[in-house]
Amino acid sequence: MNKEHVLDHLKSINYPGFSRDIVSFGMVKDVSLDGDRVTVHLNITSQNEAKKEAVIKSIEKVLSEHFKTVSVEISGDAPRQAPPIESQSPPAPILGNVKHVIAVASGKGGVGKSTVAANLACAMVKQGKKVGLLDLDIYGPSLPIIFGLNEQPQMTQDKKLIPLEKFGMKVMSFGFISGNETPVIWRGPLVSRMTEQFFRDVQWGELDVMILDLPPGTGDIQLTLTQKLRMSGAVIVTTPQDIALADVRKGADMFRKVNTPVLGVIENMSGLVIEGAVDGGISSITINGENIEVDSSGKFRFKMDLFKTGGGKKESERLGVPLLGKIPFSTEIMSATDAGVPLTQKDPDSPLGQIYLNIARDLMSSLD
Ligand SMILES: Nc1ncnc2c1ncn2[C@@H]1O[C@H](COP(=O)(O)OP(=O)(O)OP(=O)(O)O)[C@@H](O)[C@H]1O
Ligand SMILES: [Mg+2]
Repeated sequence: MNKEHVLDHLKSINYPGFSRDIVSFGMVKDVSLDGDRVTVHLNITSQNEAKKEAVIKSIEKVLSEHFKTVSVEISGDAPRQAPPIESQSPPAPILGNVKHVIAVASGKGGVGKSTVAANLACAMVKQGKKVGLLDLDIYGPSLPIIFGLNEQPQMTQDKKLIPLEKFGMKVMSFGFISGNETPVIWRGPLVSRMTEQFFRDVQWGELDVMILDLPPGTGDIQLTLTQKLRMSGAVIVTTPQDIALADVRKGADMFRKVNTPVLGVIENMSGLVIEGAVDGGISSITINGENIEVDSSGKFRFKMDLFKTGGGKKESERLGVPLLGKIPFSTEIMSATDAGVPLTQKDPDSPLGQIYLNIARDLMSSLD
């Protein structure tokens, strides 16, 4: 057995509580071999002794099949790469008063990231959280439309922007600054500076959670984010088509590389829900050959799959992260968004509103 083989074995060990292995986390500093003796040098800054113990136990278990003596040495200097959340030193001052930062991302455009981000933010407010929502889509900001906002943010005396307040949360978008009509073509470096400014020069105050609505893809902005910010995790939005999934993988792999946990996958536009009403004592109707019941008040609800289903499930299994939920294609979601009041704000008790509320609750509990 050489070092490479040992590392391969160590890759089978996940850091407790994470779906990521100790090697890709950068926790394995060195491996030294001496006959039938192996020493694994770890670099773990976490103060959590139970987790360190668990890692040591797993290493001993995995390597004792191949070596007579297995020793593990742990040091706690600053790791080479970003360590898991709980083990990091105090949060970067850039967003010091924000407990959790969650990025909503997708490899492909138009899958419903902004809609998901806005609805989750509304859901979290309803669940009593102090929420910030930051639209980082500099090329095509959506927050002004989704929240029906068309105001300029005020500036403090020390030249910090004061985020707008809407639906009980703090919101900021490039769209508030630029005016909605101007198409913005910026070069990469400027985009990343702009992104940084959104954290540094906006008076966010204390927040339980900040939701970032990312532009699609894996470009400069995502890189800046992961370099400048300590993110609690990323949520990947996908649609059921396989073609979109190939793009999702790219996004997920990027977060993996920079050690940002992927908290889960949301399958959006997953099937079509039609809700309607008929007059005059009809008890059932037929749609696409399917018999649909009509209730006593004449209302009916019909769900149909538009694409091959199960994409989100497959992808989430591959990534080893939960499928956080499936949101159907719904004209209610679309019209609520286009009218400037997200559905979860307008009608939290509806079946669709409940889907967002459940996802938000699961997300928050996975963080706390
Ligand atoms: N579940 C849904 N049912 C119906 N329409 C939806 C749903 N989710 C999003 N939409 C609609 O799809 C369109 C695109 O959604 P959205 O802007 O949220 O996507 P996006 O991923 O943020 O796009 P971009 O990549 O351009 O930022 C919008 O018109 C939105 O109202
Ligand atoms: Mg968007």
